[in-house]
Amino acid sequence: MLQISSKPPKKTILILFTKASLNILPFFDIEEKKTIQNKLNDGMQIISFNKTQKNYFLIPIEIDVTKKEDSVNEKFRILGNSIFKTLKENKETEVSVEVLGDLSKEYLASILLGINLSEYEFLKYRTKPKAYGLTVSIDALLLDEASVNELNLITESVRITKDLVNEPVSFLTAAQYSKEIQKIGEAAGFSVIVLDQKEIEAEQMGGVIAVNLGSSAPATFNILEYKPKKALNEAPLVLVGKGVVFDTGGLSLKPTRNSMDMMKSDMAGSAAVVGAMYAIAKAKLPYHVIGLIPAVENRPGYEAICPGDVITMYNGTTVEVLDTDAEGRLILADALHYAKRYNPELVLDFATLTGSALRAIGKEASVVMGTAEKTIKKKIKKAANSTGERIIEFPLWDEYGDYMKSDIADLKNLGPMDAGAITAGKFLEHFIDYPWMHFDIAGPAYVSSNYNYRGKWSTAYGVRLLFKFVQNQCKDVSTKTEN
Ligand code: BES
Ligand code: ZN
Ligand code: ZN
Repeated sequence: MLQISSKPPKKTILILFTKASLNILPFFDIEEKKTIQNKLNDGMQIISFNKTQKNYFLIPIEIDVTKKEDSVNEKFRILGNSIFKTLKENKETEVSVEVLGDLSKEYLASILLGINLSEYEFLKYRTKPKAYGLTVSIDALLLDEASVNELNLITESVRITKDLVNEPVSFLTAAQYSKEIQKIGEAAGFSVIVLDQKEIEAEQMGGVIAVNLGSSAPATFNILEYKPKKALNEAPLVLVGKGVVFDTGGLSLKPTRNSMDMMKSDMAGSAAVVGAMYAIAKAKLPYHVIGLIPAVENRPGYEAICPGDVITMYNGTTVEVLDTDAEGRLILADALHYAKRYNPELVLDFATLTGSALRAIGKEASVVMGTAEKTIKKKIKKAANSTGERIIEFPLWDEYGDYMKSDIADLKNLGPMDAGAITAGKFLEHFIDYPWMHFDIAGPAYVSSNYNYRGKWSTAYGVRLLFKFVQNQCKDVSTKTEN
C-alpha cells in the first residue's frame, strides 16, 4: 500500500537517485560514497546499507533517453518489482521514499506502481496464510495525493480481478460469480442486473444456453452499468467479457495437462471488465460504461451439446457447433447482439478465446481485431503501450469469413487449423453493427510462473489498459468541448 506522509522518514529508507546525484547523497560520508560507487560499478541494482540504526536501500536510476517513454515506464514498473522482492527478503514492512536528482512524477509513479502491484498474493485457500504487507510512505511534495490514491486504486482493481480469476470453479460457479459482481458493484457504485437461467431461456440466448447444457449449475447473464450524472459521452461504451467459469471443452473434451488444468481462468476477460468498471466507478470518471458478462460452465454431460448440433443464436443466426470447445464465441455472440440495444459509441470485448492467439504471440500481448475507426484504434494502442498491456492487431479480411460458412447452417463455430484467432474474430463480427474491437487475451491473461510485477496465475490483463483508455477518453472529450 502507498500512503502520503509528511512525518520524518521511517526506520527504513528507500533512496531513488540518479547517478549524477551520487555526490549530493546526504546521510553518507566520503568513504561510504566510495563503497556505494564501487557497488554501482559492479552493476548492483539495489544497494543496502545500515547506518545509525537506519536501513537504507539505494536504488540507482538510469533513464535511457534513446528509449520511448512507454518502455522506460515498463522498465520502472519491473524495477519496482525488484525493489519489492528485496524489501520482502529483508522483511521490511514500512519504508519511506526519498528521491535525489531528476526523476519525473510519471516515472516515480511507475516505480511505485511496480512495487504496489507486486504485493498481491492469493491466500484464500491456505490454512496458515503468511501474508506479507508493505506500506510505502511518500512525501506529498514528491507525488501528490491524487496520484498516490490513483496508484492504490489501480492496485485494488487489479486485485479484485485476480481474486476472481484465481478462484476455482468449486467456489466460483456462474451464480456465485454474479453474487461477487453484485458485491463489487455495490462497493464501487455501479448497478448490476443478473438474468438467471430462466430469464436467459425466455430471452432465447441460444449460444449461452447451448454452452451451459452439460452443466448442472445454471448460467447467468450480468448487466453492469456505471452512469455518472454528467457523462461526457452521449452513447455508452460497452465492455463485453467472456465468463466461462470453467472450460472442460465439453464433449470435445480437452486433454488434462497444460490444457484443461488452467481453465478456471476462462472467465479472465469478464473479470477484467469487472476490475476496470470498479476502477472507473471508484475514480468517478465522467464516462457512461456498460459491462455485459455471459457466465457459463462448459462441461460434458448427458444433456451437453453434441458436435454437429445446430443451434439458433440470440440474434436468430443458426450455428453448426462442430467443436464444443469453441464455446467462447457462442456466448460472446449473444452478448454482442445484446449490446446493440444501447446504440453504443464503441464495444470492446475481452476473452481468453483461442489457443491460436496464445501460440501466435505468447504472453507478451493480446491479439486484437475490429471495426473501430483508426483514431479509436490509435487511442487503444496508446493506452495499451503506456500500461505495458500491449496489443497487436490482426486483420479481418473477408476471405477469413468464408472459412466460417457452414453447409447445414448459416455459420459453423470451427474454422480450419490455421488462423484460429482471426476466424474466431470473424465469427464474432457477424453479430455486431457498431464500432467494435475484440481482444483475445488467451496469452497474457494467465501465467503459470512469475511474470515480474504481474505476478503468477492471473495477471489481470486489461484492467489497467481499460482504465487508462477511459481516463484518456475523458481528457480528450473535455478538451474537445472546451475548444
Ligand atoms: N478457452 C479456450 C482458449 C484458451 C486456450 C484460453 C489456452 C487460454 C489458454 C477456448 O475456449 C478454446 O478451447 N478454443 C479452442 C477453439 C478451437 C476448438 C476452434 C482452441 O483455441 O483450441
Ligand atoms: Zn473451449
Ligand atoms: Zn474457452
